[in-house]
Amino acid sequence: MRAQTCLTLLLVPSALACYDTGPLMRPGENCMGCHTGGRAPRWEVAGTVFECAQADRHEGVAGVDVVFRDANGTEVLRLTTNEAGNFYSKTDLPEGYRVSLVRGETVREMPFTPTKGACNSCHTMPPENGAPGRLYIGTIPCSAPAPSDS
Ligand code: HEC
Ligand code: HEC
Repeated sequence: MRAQTCLTLLLVPSALACYDTGPLMRPGENCMGCHTGGRAPRWEVAGTVFECAQADRHEGVAGVDVVFRDANGTEVLRLTTNEAGNFYSKTDLPEGYRVSLVRGETVREMPFTPTKGACNSCHTMPPENGAPGRLYIGTIPCSAPAPSDS
């Protein structure tokens, strides 16, 4: 399994290396499958941003802001995706918060408050709970057919 993951990474120019645990780990996976406290620290919110909704999970994009606002529209938290496309935070968020992805002029807002901070639990491939696929910031569809998340 580990060997396979590394081979895939070597073939994807945007991927840097093979990672075990830490900020670049398991892009696209549901971080809160493990990050509930204990060995893996509890995250309030976490996920991975891609260029397009059907992207391969190793194609996360860096430098996208994930902006959280309270019900009055006041910004309460801003995270920026790392080289794996991952973001995560322990900061508690207010009831009824709204979240958007921001890169330059492009803004994508989720039209309602997520029921949980585990973004990748819905924003995955294939999608869960009516989500449009992975978290994505780009404006063009994926060029390749949708790979499955394994
Ligand atoms: C299969 C379980 C699992 C999944 C899924 C997982 N992690 Fe982790 N993660 C861990 C464990 C366990 C550690 C602690 C490793 C250690 O202490 O050596 C960790 C550590 C980390 C750390 C370092 C924390 C610190 O304070 O040292 C970060 C950051 C992190 N993970 C981010 C993420 C993100 C973001 C995701 C989702 C994209 C994710 N992880 C998915 C198990 C997981
Ligand atoms: C319980 C499932 C669920 C969770 C958890 C979830 N989302 Fe969503 N998200 C959705 C659904 C469903 C839509 C599509 C809503 C629609 O199009 O009407 C969506 C849409 C979005 C969009 C707009 C996408 C577009 O096409 O422009 C963004 C951005 C987004 N979510 C970000 C997030 C972030 C960031 C998190 C984590 C803090 C998150 N979501 C957690 C279900 C979820």
